[in-house]
Amino acid sequence: MPSQIEHQLQQQLESRKDRSLLRRLVVIPATSADFSSNDFLGLARNPQLGARFLKELQSFPTHTPPLGSTGSRLLDGNSRYAEELEDLIAGFHNAEAALIFNSGFDANVGFFSSVPQSGDVILYDEYIHASVHDGMKVTRAGVKKAFLHNSLEHLEELLQTVRREDQQQAGTGLSGNNKYKQRNIFVAVESVYSMDGDIAPLREIVDLLEQFGAYLIVDEAHATGVFGEQGRGLVNELGLEGRVFARLHTFSKALASNGAAMVGPKVLKEYLINYARPLIYSTFTSFSNLASVKSAYQMLIAGETIELVQKVRSLISHFRTTINIPPHIHLLPSESPIQGLVMEGNARVNALSQQLIQAGLNVKPIRFPTVPKGKERVRICLHSHNTIEQVDMLIRIVEEWVKKEERDVGAIVPLPATLDTTATTEAQAAAAGPTASLSVSTLSGSTKKTSILSKL
Ligand SMILES: Cc1ncc(COP(=O)(O)O)c(C=O)c1O
Repeated sequence: MPSQIEHQLQQQLESRKDRSLLRRLVVIPATSADFSSNDFLGLARNPQLGARFLKELQSFPTHTPPLGSTGSRLLDGNSRYAEELEDLIAGFHNAEAALIFNSGFDANVGFFSSVPQSGDVILYDEYIHASVHDGMKVTRAGVKKAFLHNSLEHLEELLQTVRREDQQQAGTGLSGNNKYKQRNIFVAVESVYSMDGDIAPLREIVDLLEQFGAYLIVDEAHATGVFGEQGRGLVNELGLEGRVFARLHTFSKALASNGAAMVGPKVLKEYLINYARPLIYSTFTSFSNLASVKSAYQMLIAGETIELVQKVRSLISHFRTTINIPPHIHLLPSESPIQGLVMEGNARVNALSQQLIQAGLNVKPIRFPTVPKGKERVRICLHSHNTIEQVDMLIRIVEEWVKKEERDVGAIVPLPATLDTTATTEAQAAAAGPTASLSVSTLSGSTKKTSILSKL
């Protein structure tokens, strides 16, 4: 007889299942062509990286540093090896300092839960990653507001409102002894958005933020290794390194390892060491993982990934110029390896991805409520290890499926030019908390409904 809690858990799972929301772990057959993983440069199976990694491990035969880190970074987990790796990463990314976290998730939680000071303001793109939401749940910031995805206008509107409020506050003398007359504003964006694959208008955002004295934090999870000089990221590609407060480079996507580095000013690193709970209260990553990260960075530094980046770029261009689909299927604008075919309805994205999976191509459907209703999509990740034949096969299957659907269903109403971004997603509801309203109110008091994509 199951205990009460087992019964309750089972009921919740049944309810998810009834709503077609049940999540399951799947093992992807090794034979299927990878159009899904974040291994954009194929480094996870790259023999050069494998050889570098083994050599790195073998160069420490006496286990200095030990295999397991054996403790939190603040207790026994630190090593000269980790510190030298951070210096290497900081140098590579042209930053004063780098701090390694066990995951990109931890790094975002650590930053957003601790760096904004009491009463400060966090403005974030509505598509920002779940880890930023988790950090914001425990932040001391007084204001947390989403701006519409990549909308400079909406961001500017929010910035103006914050500064207007600051001036009013200063006028009343309520800022008291605070020598800083205005609140710190932190703006959180991703350089490449993980569900849409589109990029943030970083140059324009930086120009705008400088007018308001706001701090930009760029999550480069999907740009690290793929954009910028030798994979330094999009901030580097746009020459903005000196104008961004902090950047997050994850090792878990293109670098085929685990963990992430927050890069920025020295004082930020020291502050995070003192206040970022995921770093303080968790055993630091293992030596073998650090060796893997170091080997991946050595490949970037040696220019060994340049050809791989070129290959994936040429596949992106081939995919986008070759695919021929009618207007009711929307190919999202994207210069990154992440490409999205948006079509309305869970059933349709399921059907198309099933067709592709049966043909041996691993492609994921991204369904409502992970994305808003009407923005369901088949998410296609291109990689340097995909062949042009595989990409052509994928295109052919998509085109045939679309034609068959048209024959079966008849004329399909095209998606509106502006896709519906007003639906509320599961992630937005979760981010808002159990009692919060599902709309995100702007500072000016008007209410805008926004969509937030949860991340896989
Ligand atoms: C934009 C973004 N930031 C952070 C993370 C978390 O990184 P990690 O997988 O290293 O925890 C992810 C992973 O999905 C991501 O897509």
